[in-house]
Amino acid sequence: MIQSRASLTAEHTAIRRAAHQLLDVPRIFDDPLALPILGKAQAAGMRADPGWLAGGRLARRLRAFLAVRSRLAEDALKRAVEAGVRQYVVLGAGLDTFAYRNPYPSLRVFEVDHPATQGWKRERLGQAQIAIPEAVTFVATDFALERLPAVLQAAGLHPHEPSFFSWLGVTPYLDAPNVLSTLKAIAPLAANGGGVVFDYVIPPETMGMLQRVGFALLAARVAAAGEPFRGYFEPRALAGALHEMGYDSVCDMDPDELNAHFFSNRTDGLRVGEGGHILTAFRRAHYAMEFPPNK
Ligand SMILES: C[S@@+](CC[C@H](N)C(=O)[O-])C[C@H]1O[C@@H](n2cnc3c(N)ncnc32)[C@H](O)[C@@H]1O
Repeated sequence: MIQSRASLTAEHTAIRRAAHQLLDVPRIFDDPLALPILGKAQAAGMRADPGWLAGGRLARRLRAFLAVRSRLAEDALKRAVEAGVRQYVVLGAGLDTFAYRNPYPSLRVFEVDHPATQGWKRERLGQAQIAIPEAVTFVATDFALERLPAVLQAAGLHPHEPSFFSWLGVTPYLDAPNVLSTLKAIAPLAANGGGVVFDYVIPPETMGMLQRVGFALLAARVAAAGEPFRGYFEPRALAGALHEMGYDSVCDMDPDELNAHFFSNRTDGLRVGEGGHILTAFRRAHYAMEFPPNK
């Protein structure tokens, strides 16, 4: 991303999440703050004329993917909290609003983001008069450059208590070795019941013809925003790497599984497109039986 300015893709993602609240029935992901965090003027404009957000097939599929990845992240977090996790780290938080509607009184939330994006988010929160709970800690860092565990510890994270991490919409923008080294670096912090949820993209050359065309359009758009896609993963190799790092329960949902699990029984045809996976990895085997939760 461009170092001196807030992430444009973070804003685009947040707008699509807000659009999901207005356009899709039933919702896959409920977020009552998704509109307010965009600011009064933008939220009012979207409410007055939600139709312009609907977009074509590609936009709908992208919106479905963004909604389901947030849903899965919060479902997985719930599992982790039930198992005793008290620290949640939102990597590349963008305008994610979980921290401001956190229903778990004992859960501390660390929002990690690039300094420019985090500064912009804090302004947004102020303008929208969204209160910042005491349980929230902001951590401004570039995780491609700094050692995440040390930065988190300096911010007050307890390294010997399990943490759960979400990392949504970020891995495609980093080089694959960088993604793997981050997953490895946070693995010890996830020990004893913690874990990580993130989305990733399969290598374009393994996509079908149609799927590759849609992906090329999206890739051109994010590159034009100064945030080109860089990191791709082959699912089996990725699962193997995660097992080696100590994640003993890996649940990787491909588009067909996401559609079957979350988008069947709809009359509006909303579904995710090809190429994007959402992976949840826990560091405790018994979760394998419980995740993903039933529809
Ligand atoms: C597409 S946005 C996703 C935001 C949010 N997770 C969501 O789902 O709405 C990508 C986020 O990753 C952050 N990011 C990208 N590269 C980063 C880096 N090297 N260090 C810290 N943050 C980074 C951006 O600032 C931005 O907030």
